[in-house]
Amino acid sequence: MKTVIASNFRPAFFPCQLNRNSGHCLFRPFTTHIFRRSLTAKVRAFSTAFVETKPTEPVVETEGSGGDNGLACPICYDPLTRLSDSPLYVGSTAGSSLQCNTCKKTYFGNETHLDLVASSGSKQYDESMPLVTELFRTPVVSFLYERGWRQSAIFGGFPGPEKEFDMAKNYLKPVLGGNIVDASCGSGLFSRLFAKSGLFSLVVALDYSENMLQQCYEFIEEEENFPKEKVTLVRADISRLPFMSSSVDAVHAGAALHCWPSPSTAVAEISRVLRPGGVFVATTYILDGPFAFVPFLRTFRQNITGIAGSHTFLSERELEDLCRTCGLVGFTCMRNGLFVMISARKRS
Ligand SMILES: C[S@@+](CC[C@H](N)C(=O)[O-])C[C@H]1O[C@@H](n2cnc3c(N)ncnc32)[C@H](O)[C@@H]1O
Repeated sequence: MKTVIASNFRPAFFPCQLNRNSGHCLFRPFTTHIFRRSLTAKVRAFSTAFVETKPTEPVVETEGSGGDNGLACPICYDPLTRLSDSPLYVGSTAGSSLQCNTCKKTYFGNETHLDLVASSGSKQYDESMPLVTELFRTPVVSFLYERGWRQSAIFGGFPGPEKEFDMAKNYLKPVLGGNIVDASCGSGLFSRLFAKSGLFSLVVALDYSENMLQQCYEFIEEEENFPKEKVTLVRADISRLPFMSSSVDAVHAGAALHCWPSPSTAVAEISRVLRPGGVFVATTYILDGPFAFVPFLRTFRQNITGIAGSHTFLSERELEDLCRTCGLVGFTCMRNGLFVMISARKRS
């Protein structure tokens, strides 16, 4: 049995795999690992009330079973074990591989990201997603996204990334110091802000679009002194998140809810991966105000934007209901024109 040492990180991202082996983790380059199983339950219970990350007592991990990186197989949600030695943070994923001990499926990393979609590695099967998702997969839209496209969201009332980031931080106060998934991160404008803020122990920048992740990678590479070891780029479908249940402290989703093929499936997934007390913060559009008087809007909304595969929200109540029905509580929202920032949390 090998004993490995870990300190100074939150075990919430490493739930039931703490008694498992391999000694590999996202943090390996800058932490050593000791996992002591007996402490795990206490530390996890304590972590629900955290505001800041405190170095936790080391815990012992035994060799021989599963993964220890918080990542899970998108097929069965069992932990993934690293097969290669390379760390998993941005810039180090080329050549890395992770295996699910249950499905025996291997997932690979390339220069820019880890590919953790269920269909990764398929040879004949080719999946096309709804139009809006496919649109963001194109190189041209990915390239233009942070070069004008995102900025145009101000016309819908989006205050702009810096202001949105400040607003999101307020909601994220109870989970500062923990890990955060920037879901549908696009070219990573918020993932980068989260990482540079130093407020989180790990940022997972996740998107379905390979080209968006490529952009995110390039933006990070361009920045001097960027804390790369705090960021992992993951390609995944929001409806099938590659994380263990109750392992994530926070999920942020900027301007993405309306782009998801099924918002309820996505929010249910987010609810699954959030640990008790974990926070979900998202921004989207609400078509109400004068739009509320458009006859049959509710009935025909999917014919308006649904052709593209995007979802039109018609009221704050609808978003609240979506969160509640997917197991999230404490809904709040802030409006500015069509723009809305919502937050909810997983019941403690
Ligand atoms: C409008 S962009 C938002 C980017 C960024 N979060 C922001 O605040 O500007 C929407 C993102 O959702 C992603 N997306 C669409 N469908 C997805 C899916 N099924 N799973 C994960 N991401 C998806 C797109 O690739 C795109 O990057």
